[in-house]
Amino acid sequence: MKEIKLAKHSGFCFGVREALKKAEETIDQNQGKKIYTCGPIIHNKTVTDELEEKGVSIISCPDDAESGAIVIIRSHGEPEKFYQEAKAREIKIVDATCPFVKRIQQLVKDAKEQGRNIVVVGDKNHPEVIGINGWCDNEAYIVLNLDEAKKIKADHLFIVAQTTLTNDLFQEIAEYFKKEKKDVIVHNTICSATAERQKSCMETAIDSDLMVIIGGSDSSNSKKLYEISKKYCENTYFVENKEYLPLKEVEKCNKIGIAAGASTPERIIKEVIATMSELFTESKEENLMHGLMEE
Ligand code: F3S
Repeated sequence: MKEIKLAKHSGFCFGVREALKKAEETIDQNQGKKIYTCGPIIHNKTVTDELEEKGVSIISCPDDAESGAIVIIRSHGEPEKFYQEAKAREIKIVDATCPFVKRIQQLVKDAKEQGRNIVVVGDKNHPEVIGINGWCDNEAYIVLNLDEAKKIKADHLFIVAQTTLTNDLFQEIAEYFKKEKKDVIVHNTICSATAERQKSCMETAIDSDLMVIIGGSDSSNSKKLYEISKKYCENTYFVENKEYLPLKEVEKCNKIGIAAGASTPERIIKEVIATMSELFTESKEENLMHGLMEE
């Protein structure tokens, strides 16, 4: 019997869902006004194209927005000075920073004021990390591996993580600091959404003949799901939407697994499931749709 199984945790995380909700509300309440996001609100071209059609343009910095315009801050957050500059230029901010990221910003700000040296374990080029650093005077040590951590000479450290970091890496670095440094405070600020998606992708891949990972071509969390899936199911395909499905390969297999990154809209997941279900006489589509609505 043929079956299609969707990984338990798939698609939008809480922060992305809320950010898009705020974007839609902003559009509805500000018809005819200029609305911008600094960088794409999510890494999914279908969604950003749709927002563009509704009048939301992408800019690279607040200076690109004219005075009086509305700028939506995406879930990654922005540095503290972004808010000050926007205020000075009379730009209205709609803050869609994920609450979990907001908490890290507040933690590092408070710790910095108490005289601590901030360490962010994460990618120095990622917007979330750039934003966090901007809440502690851009003076955080940013490290992505143990070798970089070993170069830090300071004590009195306050350590946080980029939300999408793997737990193993964070623990390795935090343990090193706790052993080698005086007076260390560690806050594990990793968000469970990433780990949950990776774990359920792995579990689904183990039990599948073919895996379809749905995500935008520039979505790093979706690409990570592809890598994980490929380890457990050689027959793994990465698709942006139903147009790219390898239907001939799908037809040959009995157990099809699906996983989707945190920036993949539910609608695209449903369309992929529906397209594949049409190939099968005994469709599991209804059950899958039900599962998707529950998350
Ligand atoms: Fe927020 Fe976690 Fe998503 S930090 S943006 S809910 S991955």
